[in-house]
Amino acid sequence: MDAHTRWAALGTSSASARAYHARVAAMIAGGADLDAEARVVLELAPPPSRVLDAGCGTGRIAATLTRAGCDVVGVDADPHMIGVADETDPATTHVVADLSTLELPGQAFDLVLLAGNVVPYLADGTLHAVLKRLAAHLRPGGHLVAGWGVEGAEIPRGAARVRPEDYDRLAHAAGFTAADRWATWDRHPWSPTAGYVVMTHRRAASLG
Ligand SMILES: C[S@@+](CC[C@H](N)C(=O)[O-])C[C@H]1O[C@@H](n2cnc3c(N)ncnc32)[C@H](O)[C@@H]1O
Repeated sequence: MDAHTRWAALGTSSASARAYHARVAAMIAGGADLDAEARVVLELAPPPSRVLDAGCGTGRIAATLTRAGCDVVGVDADPHMIGVADETDPATTHVVADLSTLELPGQAFDLVLLAGNVVPYLADGTLHAVLKRLAAHLRPGGHLVAGWGVEGAEIPRGAARVRPEDYDRLAHAAGFTAADRWATWDRHPWSPTAGYVVMTHRRAASLG
């Protein structure tokens, strides 16, 4: 699959996916707390909820959620990242697919997660299409949870600058209502000078 994402433009391979996974493992081994995203998910949609990890990468969050008792599907456009996810976490279902055209027939989730800078690594101009496809896979009232770097050094290499207000406007157009906004996954209060944003929305009862 060639989804033309900003992530793919960095040049991905089996080796780069393994290196990404090894970096995450090293951070965890070094004592880093990388479970904050999963804690937010588990509080909003406790097990046995159905969770779509949209842009799951090598599956670090999906694996934690599966172990916690959620029924998780991880989707990513990068087959190399999904290859590592399949190898390291056979208990979770992983799918290679582009979120902007996502079709998982008959699947309705309680929560969709866009964590770890998926939003700024989408292909330019596709955020609205992605949010519409995610809304179509959520049950009415389901949660959409996203976090990404918005300023300075928090915007990773090759990623776009996606302003929270632009995301919020496109989310409304896709059938979502804003719920919470924080500056970290540990829910530090949002401020317009924050470098990172976490936003939660709820899906409307019906989609237009
Ligand atoms: C920085 S990685 C984050 C991976 C994972 N969420 C994590 O936190 O470790 C960003 C991921 O977003 C995925 N991505 C970007 N655009 C996508 C799209 N349109 N469809 C599916 N995945 C996409 C990339 O392939 C990449 O694996």
